[in-house]
Amino acid sequence: MAKELSRGEPSEAMPSVRHSFPMGLLPYGASIVSGSLHIAGVEIQKVADEIGTPFFIYDEDHIRTTIRNAKEAFSGEIAFASKAFLCKEMARLADQEGILLDVASMGEMYVAHAAGFPGARMIFHGNNKSDQELAFAIEIGVGRIVIDSFDEIDRLESLASAKEPVSAWLRVTPGVEAHTHEYVMTGQEDSKFGFSYRWGAAQEAIELLRSSSKIRLLGLHSHIGSQIFRLDSFKAQFDVMAELISRYGFTELNLGGGLGVAYVDGEEAPEIASWVAMAQRYSKEAGLPDSLRLVLEPGRAIVARSAITVYRVGTIKRLKEIRTYVSVDGGMSDNPRPVLYESGYEAILPSRMEDVSDTIYTISGKHCESGDILVSSALLPSDLAVGELLATPVTGAYGYSMASNYNKVGRPPVVFAKDGHYRVVVRRETLDDLLHLEE
Ligand SMILES: Cc1ncc(COP(=O)(O)O)c(C=O)c1O
Repeated sequence: MAKELSRGEPSEAMPSVRHSFPMGLLPYGASIVSGSLHIAGVEIQKVADEIGTPFFIYDEDHIRTTIRNAKEAFSGEIAFASKAFLCKEMARLADQEGILLDVASMGEMYVAHAAGFPGARMIFHGNNKSDQELAFAIEIGVGRIVIDSFDEIDRLESLASAKEPVSAWLRVTPGVEAHTHEYVMTGQEDSKFGFSYRWGAAQEAIELLRSSSKIRLLGLHSHIGSQIFRLDSFKAQFDVMAELISRYGFTELNLGGGLGVAYVDGEEAPEIASWVAMAQRYSKEAGLPDSLRLVLEPGRAIVARSAITVYRVGTIKRLKEIRTYVSVDGGMSDNPRPVLYESGYEAILPSRMEDVSDTIYTISGKHCESGDILVSSALLPSDLAVGELLATPVTGAYGYSMASNYNKVGRPPVVFAKDGHYRVVVRRETLDDLLHLEE
C-alpha cells in the first residue's frame, strides 16, 4: 500500500525521551491536573471509571471555537463535511453554529434531518446517488444537490418537477493532483468523482443543464482531496474553478474541504483561519465578484483534534530485541485509518501525563489481523502496565464515522464534554445491538 504522503513536515525526529506531551495534539480544552488529563474540565479517568472503555470523548467547545475561527476569518460560508463525524448531537451543534452541512448518503441526510438540521442548509454529494436518495433530498428540500455524473442528470430530470426545480451545483474534476495519499486524492483526472474539466465533460454538462427546466445550476463544486498541508495545492484547483465561474457567470462556488491536521509530534498544519483567508484572497485576486457565494467544506480540520479515544491496556507482550506489543480493547474497528492509509498517531496515558516517556511500544488492537496496529511507535513510560488507560489523540475525524463491527466488536460510545460535565451522546453498542439485524 502506498505510504501516506499526507503528513506535515516533522520539525524534529521523534524524541527518545518526552517529559510532557505536546498540547497542540490535544483539544483546546485539555488540561493536566496532578498528572491526570482533563478535557473541558472532565477527568478522563473518572469517565472511564463510570462508563468503561473504549470511548471517544469530544471537547464540544473545541469544535465550536474552530467553527467560529473559520467563520470570523471568512466572508463566505462554512459547510461541515459530516462524513468526518456525524451523530445527531453533532448535527445540532452545526445547526446552532449556523453553518451548512455536507451529507453524502441517505444515512447522513437522514441522521441530520432527524436531528432537526434544516434541509435547506444541506449540500448533498455522492458519485452514485440512488433514486431513493435523490427523492428524499427533494422531499426535505436539500439546499444544493451536487451533480456528479450524466446519469445523475438523467435521474434528476425524471424525479424533479419544473414547478419546483432543484437547485444544483456541478462537481468538477479540475485535474489537480494534491499532495496526499492516493486513496484520499480526488481532484485528478482518473477519479470516480465529478466531470472532467480538461476533457470538456464539465463544460458539456453545464451546457446541457442550461436548458433544463427542472434543474437550476447555480454554481460549481470541486474537492481535490483530504489531509492536504500545502496551501499552494489549492491554487491550481482555484484557477480552474475561477475560469469556469467567470466564463459561465455562476454566482456560487464550493471549493470543498481537505485541509490537513497534525496527528503526530512535530507535524505542523495551517490554521483553519489561514486556509479560509487563502480562498478569499484567491477569489479577490482572480477578480471574481464580491457577491460570489464562496463555500468551503472542511471536515477533519473542524473535528479531528477535538477528540481522543480512550482504551484500556489488556495485554503486554515483550518480544526480546524485536518490539513490545501493547494490546488495547479496541483497534481497527474504531480507527481504521492506520490500516487504510498507514496513518500515524501518538499514544498517551491519560492518568500519568507527567510521567517521563522513554520507551517505544507498538499499540495493537484486539482484532484478528496482524495489521491491526493503532500506533506503530508510541513513546510511553517504561513501567506501562496491564489495566492502565491508554488514549490516542486526534481521533475526532474519520474514526467513529468509519467504525465497524469487525469481529463483532461493538462500536464505542461517543461522549461530549463541556464546562466540567460530560454526556454520552451516542451509547455503547451492546451485544443485543449486534443481533439487531438478524432475522
Ligand atoms: C466532497 C467533500 N467535501 C469535503 C470533504 C471533507 O474533507 P476533509 O475532511 O479532508 O476536510 C470530503 C472528504 O472526503 C469530500 O469528499
